[in-house]
Amino acid sequence: MKKLRIALIYNSYEDSQPAEKADQGSLWHLRQMIRGIARGLRRSGHEVVVIPIAGDLSRLQRKLIRLRPDIVFNQYDDVVHGALYEMRIAAFIRMLGYRITGSPALGLGLNRYKYMALSLLKGAGIPIPPSTVIVERVSDINGHKWVFPLIVHAAQEHAGIGLDRGSVVHTKKALKEKARDVLATYKQPALVQHFLPGREFNVGLLGGRKIQVMPLAEVDYSRLPLAIPPIMSYAAKWVETSVEYKRTRIICPAKVDAGLTALIGKTAVKAFRAVGGWGYGRVDVRLDEDGQPRVLEVNCNPCLDSGLGLARSAEQAGIDYPHLLQTILKAAFEGPPFDMQLPIFNTKSGGGRVGR
Ligand SMILES: Nc1ncnc2c1ncn2[C@@H]1O[C@H](COP(=O)(O)OP(=O)(O)O)[C@@H](O)[C@H]1O
Ligand SMILES: [Mg+2]
Repeated sequence: MKKLRIALIYNSYEDSQPAEKADQGSLWHLRQMIRGIARGLRRSGHEVVVIPIAGDLSRLQRKLIRLRPDIVFNQYDDVVHGALYEMRIAAFIRMLGYRITGSPALGLGLNRYKYMALSLLKGAGIPIPPSTVIVERVSDINGHKWVFPLIVHAAQEHAGIGLDRGSVVHTKKALKEKARDVLATYKQPALVQHFLPGREFNVGLLGGRKIQVMPLAEVDYSRLPLAIPPIMSYAAKWVETSVEYKRTRIICPAKVDAGLTALIGKTAVKAFRAVGGWGYGRVDVRLDEDGQPRVLEVNCNPCLDSGLGLARSAEQAGIDYPHLLQTILKAAFEGPPFDMQLPIFNTKSGGGRVGR
């Protein structure tokens, strides 16, 4: 690939990241990751300009027009403001006529509306957890025949937000309490699903038209005290000082027989395609009582921290960090589906460098 001029964008809203130092989602950790990505891209010979985004899009537009990047490397993640902000950035950059890495706005949006994404997957014939129901009022709970245990999510969060020790419920009373808690705390519906008891896998996906499935990573909860439910809760994911974090391990590559590995991979690719994912992704899968994989969620622009998540799985496939980033760039030039005719805005000197 020729040497590219890359605009690396990320969300620098101060109120978007947790302040706690022990929290891996803090702005400090984010900046570390951005520096790592910039280093990785430069190692492949590219020119990288890092652009923090905090608010005004006209400033971003001016910066891009001045810079005239060949591509925008999208690391804009917005936990506080939610999916619409992420969609807005991805759509805006495409409207200006620039290539952007990862998934288009549609995939990013679906990603964060769990019920929308899951019902779409179900419609496409992809197995999801049974009894996936959206609860908008506590009284909705009375209208269903529930098979316990159940897990109760905040329907529009991601990254473990809202998932804690009380999220897996065994009685209708506990279900109502947790749903009430989600509705009040997050001001959004609760998503209730049958709790799948089986092994859990993260499936890393890489590529554009041709998707490569990375070696599976398994979430190992075997060292967790029995009183704590085996889930990737907020604490397990982010809070270094918690029991959940210390006692939950990722095993990569996971020990899984070839037949099941192939089935999990195929299911994950189908799910990624169904939500319009592109370039790189991570699909979370769990086995049901019959040992069959069911898709928990599709992460369209998953974390690219080196040594973790997708990057760790890629390493197991012999794909080092600069190579991973390079493959993401390549996929972006292949062009995602459901893309738009470009440019939509006339930016005179900027944009418009990439058509379809
Ligand atoms: N239906 C389910 N059965 C069992 N565990 C689940 C189920 N849904 C979610 N989980 C657990 O909760 C974690 C987070 O759920 P997920 O849907 O991936 O949301 P997010 O990662 O966006 O918070 C999963 O990694 C898994 O451990
Ligand atoms: Mg997940």
